[in-house]
Amino acid sequence: MQIRNIGIVGAGLMGSGIAQVCAQAGYETAVCEATPELLQKGIGRLKRTLAGAVAKGKLEAGQAESIMGRIKGTADVQDLAQSDIVIEAISEDIDAKRRLFEALDAICPFHTIFASNTSSISIIRIATATQRPGRFVGLHFFNPVPVMKLVEVVRTLQTDDETVSAATAFVESLGKQPIHAKDRPGFIVNRLLIPYLLDSIRAYESGLASKEDIDAGMMLGCSHPMGPLTLLDYVGLDTTYSIANIMYDEFKDARYAPPVLLRQMVQVGHFGRKSGKGFFDYASA
Ligand code: 3HC
Repeated sequence: MQIRNIGIVGAGLMGSGIAQVCAQAGYETAVCEATPELLQKGIGRLKRTLAGAVAKGKLEAGQAESIMGRIKGTADVQDLAQSDIVIEAISEDIDAKRRLFEALDAICPFHTIFASNTSSISIIRIATATQRPGRFVGLHFFNPVPVMKLVEVVRTLQTDDETVSAATAFVESLGKQPIHAKDRPGFIVNRLLIPYLLDSIRAYESGLASKEDIDAGMMLGCSHPMGPLTLLDYVGLDTTYSIANIMYDEFKDARYAPPVLLRQMVQVGHFGRKSGKGFFDYASA
């Protein structure tokens, strides 16, 4: 199974990061967004990241140009017809994901592998919208995609061996480290990370310590690059809330139940970095 052309659906934070690493690894990469405006925003983010790398001397200007030359933006999903693998990175909405893959199933040849970058939804729930569940995997990247080395490769009850091998080799060709997990919501990393993040909110909510000290505890005591409350702001409180709810619905385990403070912060729009305010303030950032 030769992978040459990549299709990516969604040019948000994750989709644009995935597009960057694919094009950087030499793949022809088509990126599809719902509207030209959203596409423009995603491509703009990607250009800024590459310009930053050029300014730091990590990339030649010509290399950045070649990378951009391999990326084709589109607002028409039909343009993904030539893809050998399509990676979906749209919002965590099961119905939207199923609709998208049902449409792609009619557009793409049968050899095309379908992959979802979902962080919490069972892959099989999406794969059953297609006639090719054997060629369907989870590929879960981490934020910021150009920096984080890991990709979780998730096989369902129906994913075939050839697809897992091809997806694993593809991840390695991006310079990333694949790890393999069964199709359970949260896979490996979020299964461990989400209870930890929620516990940090519970600790803060209970008055155990200040947010600064909770973060300093994990940064200086465990060498984490960010404390849990800063990481929550980075991932997005709305995103974490949605992941926690999906995992709680699936496992009915109190470890995944979102704390009241998280729900209330989401209700008032304190989403973290993206909204300018979360546990910390980013208004001037
Ligand atoms: N895109 C590309 N490169 C970026 C970047 C971005 N968005 N953000 C940072 N970088 C690069 C910088 O250019 C810099 O590169 P250099 O060392 O070669 O100059 C390097 O990363 C370090 O960045 P900074 O010096 O600006 O800042 P830090 O040293 O504080 O690192 C960080 C920033 C990499 C984000 C680091 O704080 C970190 O690793 N934090 C933890 C991130 C994490 O845990 N991510 C996983 C989240 S969970 C997830 O994604 C799963 C989901 O399902 C919830």
